[in-house]
Amino acid sequence: MQKLPDFPWDLLAPYGDKAKKHPDGFIDLSQGTPVDATPKFIQEALSKASNSPSYPLTAGSEELRTAIKDFAIKTLGVTGEFDVLPTIGSKELIAFLPTFLQSKTVLYPAVAYPTYLVGALMASAQATPVEIDATAWPVADLAWVNSPSNPTGQVQSDEQLLAAINWARKNNSILASDECYLSFTSTGKSILALSGGNNSGLLAVHSLSKRSNLAGYRAAFLIGDSKLIDQIRQIRKHAGLMVSLPVQQAMLAALSENKHAQEQTQRYLARGVKLKRALVSAGFTIEHSEAGLYIWCTKGEDGFKTVDYFAAMGILVTPGSFYGSNNFVRIALTATDENIDKVIARINL
Ligand SMILES: Cc1ncc(COP(=O)(O)O)c(C=O)c1O
Repeated sequence: MQKLPDFPWDLLAPYGDKAKKHPDGFIDLSQGTPVDATPKFIQEALSKASNSPSYPLTAGSEELRTAIKDFAIKTLGVTGEFDVLPTIGSKELIAFLPTFLQSKTVLYPAVAYPTYLVGALMASAQATPVEIDATAWPVADLAWVNSPSNPTGQVQSDEQLLAAINWARKNNSILASDECYLSFTSTGKSILALSGGNNSGLLAVHSLSKRSNLAGYRAAFLIGDSKLIDQIRQIRKHAGLMVSLPVQQAMLAALSENKHAQEQTQRYLARGVKLKRALVSAGFTIEHSEAGLYIWCTKGEDGFKTVDYFAAMGILVTPGSFYGSNNFVRIALTATDENIDKVIARINL
């Protein structure tokens, strides 16, 4: 395995220490970890399944598989032949996908969630950062897209995603789409809704961590090319990578209901609108930030300087360098409404 990058969060610790000294309290907007409650009916589904003496199936229960397929067809608009597979959150799958697929060359977005690169390094693959325009991508075994993006909040257009699908078809390569924030956009589409029913070489990664406030449960799933999913499932069977049965029941409940996901979308949207307004009036430039959990913004200076500016106000944000862009910061909307209002008051002081 190639050497993995140092875990960058240690670099943030001194700013966290500074922010924690603020007399009116510390507000953490650095991590995209949900703070709104797990809906009661999902909690109940988990506890009702707590008597669970037998091993679960790696493939997931028949009911869960059907629920994921229904979600794919009805909510995402997937057509054609495809398979599904529950995973223990989506991060493990992203980190192991190049290993499962034995990819030797991996493309990943130049400004991105770090695990795409980590996964390529874990598989001893050659990793190449690329811009969004897939017509300029080099040949590779596997490419990642992520829309809405962490950290930028950019929603890729149908044309951009279709270009990525065409790249995969032309090169006989695999396109993996991290769609774990897709429930937060009404304009963005799954690559599987754009494939015209030919899902070969295509994989879409979904997560319930943010959609349903289930990050602590570790609940996600993969949809797409049946042959590839079978290959991944076989390895996962050998490795014992299975989602616990109580969590499978919770996933079933979460997928059977969309109202809670729409309410959560509205919560993030409302927080985003008011925080963006405050940042603009404080002189920030905001890029993208169309959907998802993050505001991607700059004061036109090194991101760590901006992190320090926030730390002096008792607020912790993340430097863009953690994601491949030095002059930006990423601000997470995963704080209570009360704390977002406090942040706005401190910025506008
Ligand atoms: C773009 C992206 N993909 C995947 C994940 C992993 O989420 P989880 O493992 O909770 O499904 C995250 C987590 O923040 C993320 O930002």
